Amino acid sequence: MSADMDSIKTKAQEMATKQREISVAEFFAKNRHLLGFDNKRKALMTTVKEAVDNSLDACEEAGILPEVSIDIIDMKEDRYRIIVEDNGPGIVKQQIPKIFAKLLYGSKFHRLKMSRGQQGIGISASVMYAQMTTGRPAKIVSKIHPNEPAHYYELHIDTEKNRPDIVKEDTVEWAKEHGTKIELDLEGTYQVGNQSVDEYLKETAITNPHITIIYTNPKAQQLIFPRATETLPDEPKEIAPHPYGVELGMLFKMMQQTQYRTLQAFLTNEFSRVGAGTAKQICENAALLPNAAPSKLSRVQAEQLLKGINATKIMAPPTDCISPIGADPLEKGLRKEINAEFYATTTRSPAVYRGNPFIIEVGIAYGGDQPGDTPVRLMRFANRVPLLYQQGACVMNKATVGTAWRSYGLSQSQGALPVGPMTIIIHIASVWVPFTSESKEAIAHYPEIYKEMRLALQEVGRKLSSYVNRKRRVRDELNKRSFIEKYIPHVAEALKELVGAKGFDGRAVEESLKKILEKKRGTVEPLEFDKEANVDFDEEFARIGKEGDEEGEGGDDDE
Ligand SMILES: Nc1ncnc2c1ncn2[C@@H]1O[C@H](COP(=O)(O)OP(=O)(O)OP(=O)(O)O)[C@@H](O)[C@H]1O
Ligand SMILES: [Mg+2]
Repeated sequence: MSADMDSIKTKAQEMATKQREISVAEFFAKNRHLLGFDNKRKALMTTVKEAVDNSLDACEEAGILPEVSIDIIDMKEDRYRIIVEDNGPGIVKQQIPKIFAKLLYGSKFHRLKMSRGQQGIGISASVMYAQMTTGRPAKIVSKIHPNEPAHYYELHIDTEKNRPDIVKEDTVEWAKEHGTKIELDLEGTYQVGNQSVDEYLKETAITNPHITIIYTNPKAQQLIFPRATETLPDEPKEIAPHPYGVELGMLFKMMQQTQYRTLQAFLTNEFSRVGAGTAKQICENAALLPNAAPSKLSRVQAEQLLKGINATKIMAPPTDCISPIGADPLEKGLRKEINAEFYATTTRSPAVYRGNPFIIEVGIAYGGDQPGDTPVRLMRFANRVPLLYQQGACVMNKATVGTAWRSYGLSQSQGALPVGPMTIIIHIASVWVPFTSESKEAIAHYPEIYKEMRLALQEVGRKLSSYVNRKRRVRDELNKRSFIEKYIPHVAEALKELVGAKGFDGRAVEESLKKILEKKRGTVEPLEFDKEANVDFDEEFARIGKEGDEEGEGGDDDE
């Protein structure tokens, strides 16, 4: 027995010699699928997306109308060179190496503010992927003022230490006043279609009407998406966390780290919506003294404080931290990119999940040249960024599938997307988007988020159903009319036989029968509805007359 015990101990010691720290860079190098680099096609799209999202964030934060150019050059044998250049504020010299060659380094993680990036890993992950697949360094140029030089860097990531390895640094001439340019060589596959770079850029143009994109694809064709508006979206404000969203571990950590000496000051300064009165109330409900020092409180007392918070009525978080697209610009974006016959959009009022405010927006484009016998197309967006992968894992898919589209005039089988000629856009805007993974592809299933999406979908669903019903009635009317018209000559013929042929004017009878038809049913120009985009059905229907208008308008399954 003792021999056994000895060998177990030896094993433990042997294992100890192999146990060591793992750097984040090593971890993600091995798990690159977690960051969106699981195949070559996706890697190309993800890299462009990380760079472009950063450019847009930086421009908007600096109040600059973004103009971004993207060049993808085919270097043959599955290698591509990606060059993304923006007119943003630029990056100060000392920060450039860390931003591009250190994972988990950024300006957005520690704040609650709506932006496209939030984790501080996007662009350095692209640099790492490029390095792993081609061995080439990232090349960066950045400039922050017309009178200052542009700084040039060639960077590798030292994955073992997760820190930048500067291959070359220099100052260069750059005609731009300010901005940033990144160049990466990587392994990839270029394909057009649903989950491509082209699709990402096209969808970005829909939800960002204020940006100009100049895109040169690997076939050296240039595509320009010009901005549709000269106004930047309202700059979202940064907010402090709301007390209702805080969890025990985080609360305890905040209490340890705070610069404020009393619980009262800690609560009013580090949280949103906590004024002096609310802070007092929280302390009272927690049975803690308002002048107690937060850093001296125990874990048990932190738990007490949390209970106190949850027992206190606190105003919902402010919502100027979110800048939605807006129903009108969203419709304009849809009209610009999708040729349909009917559009409807809605922006919900702000709601809250885990203390984080968010807004849901939904738009639909129905009919036109979209295929009618396949499931609807679902376009998903988070903080204006298109999400092209992992649709099945996303709450947006679940909410769409969970809406009863049959009552809005589309066919749908249990647990599936509805079928019909339609595109649905869902957008979540939030200070913190709850992605299911680091690659930011799908949104987690928070009940509050699911519910808001359902309500928004139902809102546009109702508009859709009244349109679809009206369209059906117009078509039915036209069918009926042509059916009756077909019989008029036969009726005239029969009358002729009845009253006797002498002096019978068949044409006059036909004419007057037609007149009766027009008078009875109103006038309507026969229209080929399916080919006709944007028919004004209100006008059309008014012409038909008001009869037969009492069909159901499509009910809701809940609410
Ligand atoms: N083109 C740019 N212009 C100015 N600053 C930039 C630019 N690109 C990146 N940055 C800065 O570098 C930081 C790191 O970028 P990175 O993409 O790695 O992370 P992030 O955008 O903060 O979050 P995410 O990982 O979700 O993308 C950003 O937070 C921003 O401060
Ligand atoms: Mg980013």
